[in-house]
Amino acid sequence: MLHDTVDRANIEEMVHEFYTIILKDELVGPVFVKTLGPNLHGGKWYEHLNTLYNFWILMMTGKTGYGGHPYPPHAFIGPLTPEMFERWLVLFHEVVHRLYVPEIADKFYTKANMLANQFMDNLGLFDEDDDD
Ligand code: HEM
Repeated sequence: MLHDTVDRANIEEMVHEFYTIILKDELVGPVFVKTLGPNLHGGKWYEHLNTLYNFWILMMTGKTGYGGHPYPPHAFIGPLTPEMFERWLVLFHEVVHRLYVPEIADKFYTKANMLANQFMDNLGLFDEDDDD
């Protein structure tokens, strides 16, 4: 049954499911393997998953817990490409729609899409923002 509310338990389920899939993806998986290791039970992932639970709780409910800055790490883990962001978003879309009712899944996706665009903008990945 699809979740029709957002709570910590189902956010943990979603994040776990998403990064299990992400790690196996041939385009974006290697970036995560390189930075955090090859499986979700490894030491660095423990901390990262916890950060992501708190991040999504803040995004979706406004409850504090995540006090970080989501963009900075992305400036150093790459090079990231627009195709990688596109793949990340496709996989995220699939997972949130598999777990949540459409209205909630769309809210997750809208937030992720907004952040992805912000990150790409910061990374200078939009052609129309060229030089002059
Ligand atoms: C190509 C797409 C992406 C890749 C390959 C990627 C990869 C990563 C990696 C490897 C880290 C861990 C960095 C570290 O601990 O040193 C990270 C952190 C993070 N990512 Fe992404 N990411 C991508 C897109 C996104 C998007 C679209 C979002 C927003 C929904 C996002 C949200 C975050 C957050 C919140 C953190 C934790 C930042 C912190 O430590 O406070 N990422 N990402």
